Amino acid sequence: MLQYLSQEDQKWVQETLRKVTEKMEVVRERAQKKIPFTSKNGVYDDHSGEKEINWWTNGFWGGMMWQLYQKTGDPRYMEIARYSEEALDQCFEQFMGLHHDVGFMWMPTAVADYRKTGNPDGRRRGLHAATLLAGRFNPVGRFIRAWNDEWHGHVNTGWAIIDCMMNLSLLYWASDELDDPRFRQNPMMHADTALEHFIRPDGSANPIVEFDPETGIETATYGGQGYENGSSWTRGQSWAIYGFMISYRHTGKQEYLDAAKRVAHYFISNIPENGLIPIDFRMPKEPYYEDSTAAAIAACGLIEIARFADDLQRPLYLGAALRLLHALSASRCDWDPERDGILEKCSSSYAEETHEYNIIYGDYYFLEALLKLIDNDLWVW
Ligand code: GLY
Repeated sequence: MLQYLSQEDQKWVQETLRKVTEKMEVVRERAQKKIPFTSKNGVYDDHSGEKEINWWTNGFWGGMMWQLYQKTGDPRYMEIARYSEEALDQCFEQFMGLHHDVGFMWMPTAVADYRKTGNPDGRRRGLHAATLLAGRFNPVGRFIRAWNDEWHGHVNTGWAIIDCMMNLSLLYWASDELDDPRFRQNPMMHADTALEHFIRPDGSANPIVEFDPETGIETATYGGQGYENGSSWTRGQSWAIYGFMISYRHTGKQEYLDAAKRVAHYFISNIPENGLIPIDFRMPKEPYYEDSTAAAIAACGLIEIARFADDLQRPLYLGAALRLLHALSASRCDWDPERDGILEKCSSSYAEETHEYNIIYGDYYFLEALLKLIDNDLWVW
């Protein structure tokens, strides 16, 4: 993408990456034996213990370390990344805590390691996780089951969520590794189901769709982490944009690129004047909460669309990504090396009591987007 950036944007992205690396050189030492989800009062928490190890975000700290290793070549990042990868072996031993987010967990850790260094342990771990994900496929409904047990009191054997579009990468990767088409057929069927049942006529995306797990018939939709059913949870829109682009990159199926563009057009037309993204595009004006993670993830997806766009269309997608990233770097980044975490005003969910704090996947996708702009990201998806 570098060749399509103005001189001014090239300078800005290099300067922003300099600030990220300067800060992370300090932060990484404090967090070398942690798997953080958020930073509280400038200190990362730790999800590497046996109780929290199945948490879906546990791949992102390792992923940041691999992206920074890719950028700098400094082996210290690789050493720290491998702490996450090895800690995640506890999940295989426990088994019961695992869910569809094994893609988010093992792609930026084990599979990134294998892709970058050829480490056979990374390949073994990735294939193990892919096999577990494939086991969650419902062949009648043609979807991958999201969670286990209950969610907010609902039994969810028939639930699929838009976020899963990101996990499909693990199956596409396994298909290439094993030369086994089953691992490509399952995610393509899931993506086709998502296209039919999640993407609304206006280009927005449902966060959760419930199917009857015996018949595969759609029975309900839910608002997920957004404001309400029928609203427009922004991170869900971002997962859809980037997720369909991942399916497009792995399969070349035109419908996936078209779907990513439809959601992107909806997203772009809803970006507020200041470029900062709310939790939900259809929430009430008050109280107003932002979610910087949605902006960072959407930026990654938009840059991916720009990669496949012609000269006429590229400025729309690249321009929107730059607008989001500029807004984050100008007013939502904490550059103090004494404080852990970078992005501010991230929100996990509208319904949660706490909003607008640092979240690790916001930092991860912000870094990945910046590296995409200079053509130096490690492709982990
Ligand atoms: N994958 C869960 C979330 O985006 O919050």
